[in-house]
Amino acid sequence: NWSMQDFIDQQIQKIRETVGDKKVLLGLSGGVDSSVTGVLLHKAIGTQLTSIFVDHGLLRKNEADQVMASLKGKFGLNIIKVDAQKRFLDKLAGVSDPEKKRKIIGNEFIRVFDDEAAKLNGGFDFLAQGTLYTDVIESGTDTAQTIKSHHNVGGLPKDVDFKLIEPLRTLFKDEVRELGEKLGMPHSLVWRQPFPGPGLAIRVVGAVTPDKLTIVRDSDAILRDEIAKAGLDKDIWQYFTVLPGFKSVGVMGDGRTYDYTIGIRAVTSIDGMTADFAKIPWDVLQKISVRIVNEVAHVNRVVYDITSKPPATIEWE
Ligand code: XMP
Repeated sequence: NWSMQDFIDQQIQKIRETVGDKKVLLGLSGGVDSSVTGVLLHKAIGTQLTSIFVDHGLLRKNEADQVMASLKGKFGLNIIKVDAQKRFLDKLAGVSDPEKKRKIIGNEFIRVFDDEAAKLNGGFDFLAQGTLYTDVIESGTDTAQTIKSHHNVGGLPKDVDFKLIEPLRTLFKDEVRELGEKLGMPHSLVWRQPFPGPGLAIRVVGAVTPDKLTIVRDSDAILRDEIAKAGLDKDIWQYFTVLPGFKSVGVMGDGRTYDYTIGIRAVTSIDGMTADFAKIPWDVLQKISVRIVNEVAHVNRVVYDITSKPPATIEWE
């Protein structure tokens, strides 16, 4: 009879056996998966765990501060925050292919870890990651077909010498949330909507620029604010904005505008493998649309994505 408590006990024992007296480095992304991985590892090996929170400049508004307050402040994890925004943006400049963007971000992530580990005088044998069962399947690790090469599977460059620890590798998202609650993590953290490792970079369709990131980040903050105000945040699996990158004609005051379109993506789902578009009330969508066009410069049109997965994916890239 499988229970979450059994899973926790088994994983803690397994982690202790695997790690011994060695040290583990964890990459925190701010999402549920890596946060739960961090708290589980902290429970198992305490101060042998050092977490590196890479602020790659692709996070949502205020996200970095919230993650630090909760995991470092509340749970006492040893977290080093690295401001690596420039490194990522330089590497991403001019790159428009989604899979190339993922690979660049994944590789850069590992390199930032390696640089930080070196600054800490090395000594880290293990790299922990919050890989889920869905990541394993969709990356084609166990099958011939690759749907998307999620950055956190098989993305280790050959010249970096870490062994991997992936304690969530057999779990679906709903099980990770159950695990987080069982570990005593706050509701706000456990029920945080999933956020992809490559962050806002895959929500700017095509090449990423600082200006486009600002548009997608600011519109996303408005969307999240209005969804929370409408009391819908618990019902929707994932909701965010995307910047397709084309411009269209609009009218504002006396003049015509030629500016960007923002897409709203909101889906209900159990595990992210399939999804339906969320039936957000029209008046809520209208409020969001009005606010985005009024408050975010260079946006003159808002559209709502009404496709399900399949045939579309949840993200646009
Ligand atoms: P898709 O777009 O494949 O997304 O329907 C399914 C779920 O996976 C997330 N996702 C990612 N997560 N790295 C991640 O860590 C990625 O490259 C990535 N791509 C998609 C997506 O947000 C959704 O929750």
